[in-house]
Amino acid sequence: MTKEEKYAALLPAAESLSSGDEDVIARMANLAALLHSEFGFWWTGFYRVCDGGDGKVLVLGPFQGPVACTRIRFGKGVCGTAWAEDRTVVVPDVDKFPGHIACSSESRSEIVVPVRSNGRIVAVLDIDSRDLGTFDDTDARWLEKVAECIYG
Ligand code: SME
Repeated sequence: MTKEEKYAALLPAAESLSSGDEDVIARMANLAALLHSEFGFWWTGFYRVCDGGDGKVLVLGPFQGPVACTRIRFGKGVCGTAWAEDRTVVVPDVDKFPGHIACSSESRSEIVVPVRSNGRIVAVLDIDSRDLGTFDDTDARWLEKVAECIYG
């Protein structure tokens, strides 16, 4: 099965899981589990935009994989960059991304996709791979559709 076919098969499951409960944390938890188990990624999870006391910050949400850093500031790392630049960020080699935050030394490539509610970024979906160059435009396109399930 190609990557494209795998995502096409997964999207209806993602939509149905999300419509099963209106709580966004429950939705994020099941979508992280679905993606992680189907694709065998190294780390799959969400960071939510929260009030950090002295401003907004990304705080660790539902995820699958090894323990991770809990807070990421606006513009920092791959996650903070996707948030600040309001776009999906594909990183073929994390060692070549200035400011990459290494929660795990095993991670080699990464993709971060914004999660929007009423057009505003309220979370990001972050996926790490232990291989170089795992993610491309196909992943970006499909994962953006998966991310839309959260508040859709
Ligand atoms: N690498 C991310 C940090 C989160 S972990 O990958 C789970 C970043 O640079 O934002």
